[in-house]
Amino acid sequence: MVEIREIKKIQETEKASIHSHITGLGLDEHGKAKLIADGMVGQTEAREAAGLIVQLVKQGKMAGKGILLVGPPGTGKTALSIAIAKELGEGTPFTAINATELYSTELKKTELLTQVIRKSIGVRITQKRLVYEGVVKEIRIKVARSKINPYYQVPREAEITLKTKDDELKITAGESVAEQIQRKGIRKGDVIWIDAQTGEIVKEGRAKEETNYEIGGGKVVETPSGPVKKEKELTSTFTLNDLDLNLAAQSISINAIFSLWTEREISDDIRKQVDKLVKDMINSGEGELIPGVLFIDDAHMLDIEAFSFLTKALESELSPIIILATNRGVTKIRGTDIESPHGIPLDLLDRLLIIPTRPYNENEIREIIKIRAEEINVELDPQALELLTKIGVENSLRYAVQLLEPSNILALRNNRNVIKAEDISEANKYFADIKRSIKYVKEYESLMLK
Ligand SMILES: Nc1ncnc2c1ncn2[C@@H]1O[C@H](COP(=O)(O)OP(=O)(O)OP(=O)(O)O)[C@@H](O)[C@H]1O
Ligand SMILES: [Mg+2]
Repeated sequence: MVEIREIKKIQETEKASIHSHITGLGLDEHGKAKLIADGMVGQTEAREAAGLIVQLVKQGKMAGKGILLVGPPGTGKTALSIAIAKELGEGTPFTAINATELYSTELKKTELLTQVIRKSIGVRITQKRLVYEGVVKEIRIKVARSKINPYYQVPREAEITLKTKDDELKITAGESVAEQIQRKGIRKGDVIWIDAQTGEIVKEGRAKEETNYEIGGGKVVETPSGPVKKEKELTSTFTLNDLDLNLAAQSISINAIFSLWTEREISDDIRKQVDKLVKDMINSGEGELIPGVLFIDDAHMLDIEAFSFLTKALESELSPIIILATNRGVTKIRGTDIESPHGIPLDLLDRLLIIPTRPYNENEIREIIKIRAEEINVELDPQALELLTKIGVENSLRYAVQLLEPSNILALRNNRNVIKAEDISEANKYFADIKRSIKYVKEYESLMLK
């Protein structure tokens, strides 16, 4: 029996967390930006431009092209790119990296770029699988002494009787199924299915008839009808990177994709196999490609090699939507002496649709702070909101947004659920914004030089 493990999908939750309030671009049916919607405030032209891009992507007309967001810090470049991914629909992969990450790892930068590109392309796979499905009528687990530790007993074999409205079947299965039954807490009255090939067990919920006397949680489901052993259509979304890792784990057929995972270096060969597999599945109707979004922040930090790699990647059949962001004007292309707009080579710039973002006014900053406060469940009194808005205007929006959490802790320390202006000032004293930290370092430097 195959050893079962779940496919791990890499999630980039941390980076996205200060943008958790963003659920879309906030556009109306004509593609016009509503003033405040989907967590988005202002920045109307950029949002409308982004809306057009979403349409182009959906119509398959973005092939070979990328996007460049240009604007000062804290003007919502990252926020916009997340909104684009959200508009592309649920399950759209989104990967965000900072260009400098390419130069801070042991991996070759082209390898890392390949990985992030492949993390940003999804494949929705629908497969007919042979399964045993039904309500658990009886379970018997046979245990045996562990080979490793004789004082320890391990599950060896499982006998399960599954029942549907019309059928009943007793199955005998090996160790991995027995182990899953224990680990997943499968008991009488659960509706489950077991993949006939991999042995993976999925619990669907409690059978309706079994829940009469039960209190509390858990999903209640209908007792299945028809035969216990049957074909079932299963759908799952993986990124190309998930598939690479799974294929690298074992030279396997598509069947094992549902069950294996390990972390290993990925060879070109594996990737070619995965590409072929994916293309075959798409052609046979088993798979559907879901191009996601790869967001590269501080794109001016990429060097000439990385740029030419990306230019090539844009042309490839399996390419995500690549969004670059920068807050630089004309600057040297890293790795060369050539100056170029945003430090990006002209041949790549030629393929990019450029969206500028502009600084927010006071009202917009106030609204964004209000949305953030609501999102993280903190309450601001009116003076606190005004002070934070002022800080946002004078320093940066991002700094103001980041002061919310520490201010909340300070308020709680004073037994208050509402943040007051004094909490904000206190938090503001503890942490330096960029202007103050630079001033501090300068003062310190001049002291050292004396
Ligand atoms: N138009 C907007 N509506 C709502 N929230 C926004 C908007 N623009 C930015 N924000 C929020 O403000 C904060 C700062 O914005 P963001 O990080 O997107 O700016 P940025 O342009 O990417 O900055 P940097 O150049 O520093 O990377 C984030 O919490 C973001 O979600
Ligand atoms: Mg950013």
